[in-house]
Formats: sequence, C-alpha cells, structure tokens
Amino acid sequence: MSSSSGLSKIRSALVVLSAGALVAAGAVSLQPGPAQAATGDSLGVAAAKAGLFFGVAASPGRLSSIVGQEFNQLTPENEMKPEAIAGSGGTVQNTGNADTLVNYAQNNNMIVRGHTMVWYSQAGSLSGANQSTLNTYIKNVLLKWGNKIAYWDVVNESLDDNNTGNRRNQWPHTLDKDANNDGDYFDSTDTDYIRDSFKQARQVVQANNLKTKLCINDYDIEGLTVKGGSKNKKSDAMYEIVKKYSQEPTKYIDCVGFQAHFNDNPNSVITDDLEANIRRYAELGVEVHLSELDIDDDLSNNDIGKGQAENYRKVVRACLNVSKCTGITVWGISDSESWRSSERGLLFTGSNGSYTKKAAYTAVLEELKKGRGTVDPTPTPSEDPTPTPTPSEDPTPSDTPTDPQTGTCRVTYSDNTWNSGFTAAVTVENTGSDAIDGWSLSWTWPGNQKVTSAWNATVTQSGNQVTARNASYNNLLAPGAKASFGFQASYSGSNDAPEQFALNGETCSLG
Ligand code: G3I
Repeated sequence: MSSSSGLSKIRSALVVLSAGALVAAGAVSLQPGPAQAATGDSLGVAAAKAGLFFGVAASPGRLSSIVGQEFNQLTPENEMKPEAIAGSGGTVQNTGNADTLVNYAQNNNMIVRGHTMVWYSQAGSLSGANQSTLNTYIKNVLLKWGNKIAYWDVVNESLDDNNTGNRRNQWPHTLDKDANNDGDYFDSTDTDYIRDSFKQARQVVQANNLKTKLCINDYDIEGLTVKGGSKNKKSDAMYEIVKKYSQEPTKYIDCVGFQAHFNDNPNSVITDDLEANIRRYAELGVEVHLSELDIDDDLSNNDIGKGQAENYRKVVRACLNVSKCTGITVWGISDSESWRSSERGLLFTGSNGSYTKKAAYTAVLEELKKGRGTVDPTPTPSEDPTPTPTPSEDPTPSDTPTDPQTGTCRVTYSDNTWNSGFTAAVTVENTGSDAIDGWSLSWTWPGNQKVTSAWNATVTQSGNQVTARNASYNNLLAPGAKASFGFQASYSGSNDAPEQFALNGETCSLG
C-alpha cells in the first residue's frame, strides 16, 4: 500500500493540532472533534495524544514530505556529530547541513534531539581532546542552537561491548582516572569525563536559561537481562552512572536514550523485562527515550510481516506503559535507506521519498492510538528490579506514590515539555469506596500555561483555572477504576506542574 494516500489526511491532522496552539487565553473547549478523530493517523499525532514524541533520524537528503507528516521529532543522523561540525580547539563550524535539519524541524513543528557531543567515534578534530577543549565544544554547540534543541546527547556510547559493565578504554575514556582504585569513577578524587562533560553542559544550560535537556545515550542497555536470562551488566553500569549524576547534589542528567537497535546479538535482543528496565530508570526521575529504534527482521525468523510488527508493538507498549518514557525515535525512514538495510528493521520500504508502510508501521500506529493505558503501577517488591531506595534516594515527592487508602481520588500527572509547549498525560483514580458517575477534575496553573487541545476529556480554562470534564465514554469511575486523558498546552517561562488537583471538588492525593 502506498503511503501517499494517507498523507494529506495526516497533514490536516497536524494543522488542526497546531492550530490549537494559536487559541488565545480564556475559556477553551477543545475536545478533539470529528476532524481530529478522523485524521489522527500519523505516528506523531498519535504519540502526542499519548504524551510522547515519535521521531525519526534524518539527513538533509532524506527530507521528503513524509518526515514532517509522520513524525514530530527529528534527530540528525550524522550532521551534528563532531566529525561534521567540530573545528580546532572546540570550535563549531560547517553547520549548514545541521541547520537545514533544524530549520526543517522548526517549520514542521518537530522537536530536535542533538546527536551527539562527546563520543569516541566520528569525533573528527575533537578526537583526543582534553576536558578543557571538550568543555569549550560543549558550550559552543549548546549555544549554537540554544532552545531549538529540546534534547542533546551529551555523552554517547561510553560503555564497553560484550556485557562487561566496564567503560570503554579508548579516548575519551583515557581521560578517566580511578584515583583510589575502587573500581568506579565516582569519587571526588577520580576523574570522570562523563561527570565533567555533563557538569559543563549543565552549567551552560543554567547560565543561559536554556530549556534543553541533557541525555546520555547507549545501546544494549535496554533489558534488565540479556539473551539467556543473565543480568544485563551494561545496563546496570549505566544505571549507576545515571543514578549518580541525575540525583542531588549533581542533577546533571535529565534523560537516558536506550538506542534500541534490536538484532540477534545476544545482548541486543528484545527481552520481556524491557518495560521493567525502562521503569527502573524512570523511577530515578529521568526521562527515558528509545532513541534509535530499529528491529532486525531476523528476530522474527525473517518474517518482516507479522513477526516484526509484533516486536514493534511490544517495544512501543513497553514505553507507553511508563509515563516517563517520553519519546521514541526510529533510526531512519525506510529499510533500504537504513544503516542496517540488510536487516530491514524500519517501518517503511521504498526510497527517495516514495515509501510504503509495512505491517510494523500499522502495529506501531495502533499501539500508539491505544495510549498509555494503566501506567506506572505502584511497584511491588517482586516487580521492583532495583535495590529498594532508601528514603534519601527517593525521587521527587511527586514521583512517590502516596497511600492509596486515603482520600477518594489520586492523580498522576506527567508532562513532556519543549521550548514553548508541552503535552501532559493525566490519570485520575477513584480511591474511595463509592462509584463516581460523572467527574470533573480541576487545578490551577502555577505559571502562564494555556491548554490548547485535549483528548478523552473536555478541558476548559479561564485565567489560570482549568477544569477537565469526563468524555461521554469515561464518565463512570467504579471504586479503584482510573480514567486517563491528555492535553497539549503552550507556556512561557517555567512549566511547573500543578500542585493540587480536585475531583468533583475534593482534593486528591498525588502519586
Ligand atoms: O557521506 C559519505 C559518502 O560521501 C561516502 O561515499 C560513503 C562511503 O562509505 O560514506 C558516507 O558516509 C557514511 C555516513 O554514515 C553517511 O551515510 C559513513 O561511511 C558511515 O560510516 C556513516 O555511518 C553512520 C554511523 O553512525 C557511523 O558510526 C550511520 O549513517 C549512522 O546511522 C550511524 O548512527 C549511529 C549513531 O550515531 C549512534 N548509535 C549507533 C548508530 C548506528 O551505527
């Protein structure tokens, strides 16, 4: 089936959704109408409704219309790597191709992930640099694009292959020094290029009031286990790094990219514990992305139809089930144009702007349209793969489940924020003992947020007071039942979450 017939509808959907962003202050009633419901058939629109982005890696030569029509996030495949843009002494040069991609993304309402700053490969003139030069480069690239870049991969592929759990041993790892020889690089006397690179990036972000989020990115860290069921030591090692540098007092890392290049390497397979591993990182308070997704058709016995589609469905569902899994990026548009063309791991066939959707595309779209469902259940000991956090290690209060027995309602709220807008996913649970027939959830914005569109509820805003009323099909909340809805909003300044929600006038606990 050719993709072209569906594309004009998809374009309409994006126009409708972005038109919502133009709605001025005051009361708005923005439940998706028939036009949106009928035309929500793009990966980006379906993902936005579920509160995440769905993006693609692209190059200037591959910017066919499908990129802006299907996806709402873009990662330059090679054009922001130091090999392409680093000059001597940490300067930035030759950014024409990268600029083309950033401009395309801006013109098509896509957010950008910068890829990548510090990496042993494709390092160009940065290769062998000392930390001071790396810091100059980090500052220069951050300031070059500023808030046009929503997420930056600050450090890429720092850990070794073959599930050793060790760091790599070539540059920039040659900068590392384990001063007290205790096997890690976390002590104050140690030298750690990961820490120092993120520290520099954080300082630049803070000093310049940037909203850019800082990510660490790697492959083979997706599952809690690898093929055969043994521990994924590489993922465990990455977890320790993220834990160390995302919590107080450092708070350098905002996000983790699981590259998700799934193939038949024993360390790169799709495991049943993918979701649990996403959740363990998410519980540190960081966002998790599947940042370079492709799925080798070998994983389904060369069945590029149903088998591969089911694998995609499983991976997308794992992300949807964790509210802090805020984005998925496929590593290219079509099989033949992929870095892994022989493995046929993407969502389209075809080339040069003429693409055909695969079964995997349909599976992903269907799964995205189902939305997040029941997300983030309170972990039970058997579900919790991490050592039980001590109170001082607990994530932020809003991430900490509160006692479900108190009050009559509980609300979870998560947002995915970019420069001037965000989507949010809200789940309201009836924790009382009586059924609720017809609900209305209200809150007050702490800033100047303005809801511009909503789904699965009718949302109205007056000043900074917001009310979300049930849709006709989710009015009934039996004891223990939940309803989920989402919305898109604009803001400027800061985008703090509401501090309190009330269900039919009664204050809810947060969890
Ligand atoms: O542009 C030249 C072209 O002029 C020349 O004729 C041709 C000859 O081989 O090479 C072209 O450059 C290639 C470039 O991709 C652009 O297509 C390079 O050889 C090739 O090495 C490079 O591969 C890239 C690879 O990173 C390098 O490590 C892939 O496109 C890119 O998809 C891949 O992306 C990485 C992520 O950055 C990190 N995670 C893994 C992922 C896949 O390897």
